[in-house]
Amino acid sequence: MKCLVLGAAAGGGLPQWNCGCPNCIDARAGRLAPSGQSSLAVSANGSQWSILNASPDIRSQMQDLPALHPRSLRDTPVASVLVTNGDIDHIAGLLSLREQTPFTLFATHEIHSVLDENRIFDAVSRDKVTRNHIALDTPFPLHEGLEATLFAVPGKVPLFMEGEVVETDLVGEQTVGVRLTANGKVVYYIPGCAHVPDDLLARLQDADQLFFDGTLWDDDEMIRSGTGQKTGRRMGHISMSGPDGSIARLSPIHARKTFIHINNTNPVWRPDSPERTHVLEHGWQIASDGLEVDL
Ligand code: MLT
Ligand code: MN
Ligand code: ZN
Repeated sequence: MKCLVLGAAAGGGLPQWNCGCPNCIDARAGRLAPSGQSSLAVSANGSQWSILNASPDIRSQMQDLPALHPRSLRDTPVASVLVTNGDIDHIAGLLSLREQTPFTLFATHEIHSVLDENRIFDAVSRDKVTRNHIALDTPFPLHEGLEATLFAVPGKVPLFMEGEVVETDLVGEQTVGVRLTANGKVVYYIPGCAHVPDDLLARLQDADQLFFDGTLWDDDEMIRSGTGQKTGRRMGHISMSGPDGSIARLSPIHARKTFIHINNTNPVWRPDSPERTHVLEHGWQIASDGLEVDL
């Protein structure tokens, strides 16, 4: 199984269009590598690919990876696209995949209903793009040789669907993780997760590779940096640091572990930061665009 990181950054990317934080300034100046919004391409057979989350950057992400280019006049090696929630950074790229080339679009019933309720997605023609509704905890093929299982992780409804009261640790069909298996290897992809409950920890024991929510280093990072009013908790994202953070909670998992969906404010982007050193010392890798993981 081959996994290619199409985008390592959280919603907004690095740099984000309106952000003058030190990371975004350095990414514009070429001192930090810019990064697209989070997405992973996976292949079990080297000829077909499945894309996990369609980011607004998908056009340039696909252009940068020859494995994803068409092989004939109108064609794609992309057999399927799977979305793990209804957030803009994970669905807006579907609009770039209109143009009448078939693939299968996989999501839970609830995530499909977000697409159904937003008529702009009708541009992704139902004649060509089959919308396949997937039940939780039920394995299905993403393409030949690549099996996936969706499972609920704590999260919330998409930002654009929030009401007056927002539950930030809903466990259901609106935010899912993905277990991928091919050739006896197991990969998990969980780009959004509000906290790590014990049953999630137990589930991940068989991982060979884990891609996990690396949005924030700590919960009040956006408030402290002056870039936003919300805590990580309010956004439905666990932090890396702290006793309930992902580094501590996932320490019993001995898989190769990679942070993905990293917000532009996160100090781990910086090669010289103590936070990045801490992450690496605790056995984690920080994803970057184009990173390839072969299993
Ligand atoms: C998130 O991961 O919290 C979302 O991508 C936020 C957003 O839609 O901007
Ligand atoms: Mn996001
Ligand atoms: Zn920034």
